[in-house]
Amino acid sequence: MRPYLRLSALGLLLATALRAQTPSWVTPDREARVAALLAQMTLEEKIGQLNQLPAAFDPTGPVPTGGRERDAYQAIREGKVGSMLNVVGAEATRALQQLAVENSRLRIPLLFGYDVIHGYRTMFPVPLGEAASWDLDAIEHSARVAATEAAAAGLHWTFAPMVDVSRDARWGRIMEGAGEDPHLGSLVAVARIRGFQGPDLGAPDTIAACAKHFAAYGFAEGGRDYNSADISDDTLHNVVLPPFHAAARAGVATFMNSFNEIGGVPATASARLQREILKGAWGFQGFVVSDWGSIDELVQHGVARDEAEAARLAITAGSDMDMCSEAYIASLGRAIAAGQVDERLIDDAVRRILRVKAALGLFDAPHRYSDPQREQQTLRSEAHLAAARDVARKSIVLLRNEGGLLPLVKNAKTIAVIGPLADDRDSPLGSWRAQAEPDSAVSLLEGVRRAAGPDTRVVHAEGARLTVGKRGFKQSLTFNTSDRSGFPAAIAAARDADVVVLALGEDAFQSGEGRSQADISLKGLQLELLRAIQEVNQRIVVVLMNGRPLAIADWADSVPAIVEAWHGGSQAGLAIADVLFGDYNPSGRLPVSFPRHVGQVPLSYNRKNTGRPSGASGEVFWSHYEDTPNTPLYPFGFGLSYTTFDYSAPRLSADTLAPGGTLDVAVTVANHGAVKGRTVVQLYVRDLVGSVTRPVKELKGFRLVELAPGETREVSFRLTPADLAFYTAQRRWEAEPGEFHVFTGGSSAEVKKARFTLTE
Ligand code: NOJ
Repeated sequence: MRPYLRLSALGLLLATALRAQTPSWVTPDREARVAALLAQMTLEEKIGQLNQLPAAFDPTGPVPTGGRERDAYQAIREGKVGSMLNVVGAEATRALQQLAVENSRLRIPLLFGYDVIHGYRTMFPVPLGEAASWDLDAIEHSARVAATEAAAAGLHWTFAPMVDVSRDARWGRIMEGAGEDPHLGSLVAVARIRGFQGPDLGAPDTIAACAKHFAAYGFAEGGRDYNSADISDDTLHNVVLPPFHAAARAGVATFMNSFNEIGGVPATASARLQREILKGAWGFQGFVVSDWGSIDELVQHGVARDEAEAARLAITAGSDMDMCSEAYIASLGRAIAAGQVDERLIDDAVRRILRVKAALGLFDAPHRYSDPQREQQTLRSEAHLAAARDVARKSIVLLRNEGGLLPLVKNAKTIAVIGPLADDRDSPLGSWRAQAEPDSAVSLLEGVRRAAGPDTRVVHAEGARLTVGKRGFKQSLTFNTSDRSGFPAAIAAARDADVVVLALGEDAFQSGEGRSQADISLKGLQLELLRAIQEVNQRIVVVLMNGRPLAIADWADSVPAIVEAWHGGSQAGLAIADVLFGDYNPSGRLPVSFPRHVGQVPLSYNRKNTGRPSGASGEVFWSHYEDTPNTPLYPFGFGLSYTTFDYSAPRLSADTLAPGGTLDVAVTVANHGAVKGRTVVQLYVRDLVGSVTRPVKELKGFRLVELAPGETREVSFRLTPADLAFYTAQRRWEAEPGEFHVFTGGSSAEVKKARFTLTE
């Protein structure tokens, strides 16, 4: 027997033996129904369920080499398609569903999937931005709204959340995740899954979620998309996997594997990840979809000689559904006939897929999601737009505010709103914008105009365009590096203004899939424009709109105020104006470090100490750069407010924590300023000595607290040994007795410390 067949048998055994917990959407009734259906299926029909085809009208990736099923309609009639992606809209989904349930022999409904990443028609901030809110209720609500809209448009399933931890701002897809921290990333993942799936996956306004990309896609070498990840077991288990495990525990219905290899094994062909860990140790009962064409790509990776071998490797490793390779439909039948693949693997994959279809209620009412009237009433409703504004303003991070330039007074005489992104109604929609109408966001200029007082003149000048030529999801961007014709008007507007609001950053399509950058500083003429404006007016508020951390150290200290607004979604301009004028006191905190220089990345606060963490002054033999400090420009957890908060040192209920015990940590936080404000009280720990090296700090808890001026509040956290557990040298997830530091404060870099001992 080939080695991968042995592995798979072990995986199957584990999967049945170790069903950790059953999600609420798996019920005995449905299991019985699925089993009965499975018993009636021919092998061809079973393989059909594993086949996912794209809709040709909106491909979101290279057309896969398969492409045999040119006539998708016929394939659906013949029961050779289990799912489709990129079919959207109540009518289109209804029509295709009709084909399946009225023509195929067993009338098994199709599953419609789509990338609903941060909204369907109403756009919320890009996920990295939302994570900056640290507001799990707001994030859950954002996903709830997205699911409501998507479900009304006939969709059953979103390829979200992306739960890849990433510490590399060069990677364009860092915008799709929750940043650099596994703890925050896990909580955000769960919030998003709850939002998409709701309390009842069978309700007509909830959709199945998908934790992706399993695994280590955020660790692509050099930050280059689709590149190899070569990470240790320590990083895999302690950094990469926790959000996925949290997703599995939260009952996520599906997982997507990833394009990258990890240490020589492409994720799509990894039995260790998919069978041993996910379906085995974690007892995951949903299904795994491959990424777009990632089964065929096993040939390019060089682990399969041809597509047929790729299909065998992938199904054996636990990839249940084939997204767009058409490798399963083309070759699994023959592989089974030749005894190369065990038919039980196919049964297992089909069972998982049918289980999700049953949980969505599709067997009883295959058209329940495709309701044109509901679609009409739901998309971009007032309530959804209001939610988008709320989440957008909570996501904004105030990075700098020297001399209290912000908030702006509402009766300023003249405000100049300048910059390539100032009146851009499209870039705030961000990348992966599902069915947002192009140019449908409220621009910053519009937001400022609406918020400014009646006597304030708001003038606008673009200064310089950011890009030239075509822009879009699939095109590479060309930046404007020569057209300065707008400079004079911008300089004139700035000269006469009380304050300049300068919108800089990234085009919507500058971050996202396939958008890696070796240089993460401002592109095009933006820095030149800033410098030109500084010549005539120093009172500048830079509003950054972007999907990744940018390297801004060259100029950050030269402007009094910087507002990180991300790509803020449909209501971005209103949300930013809320913050600029103080109608909302900024409360966002960075979910990712902002480097001083791209050469520092990958960068994160929860780094290792190394053997040489510091050196005597003047000596070179310690872990550092000779030309740049080790520290980020703005650390993880950082964000300013219009008020000032003070945090006490942590007070511990005891100086020891026993196995099975608890330790309470109290912090007093006070608002010393003149306005109400919200802060994120953060708790970190350090395990001083471990069987493997431990990070210098790890986030273990946080609390959102809103305080009136002068108000003081005690915030408490409870630690248990489980919070201190990690993947040890013994390859077990457990806490090791010993000394710990506990830190509390308002950012990863500004904390006060206490100590305790975890006893044997
Ligand atoms: C490729 C991306 O990696 C994945 O995240 C996405 O869901 C699929 N394409 C489908 O569009």
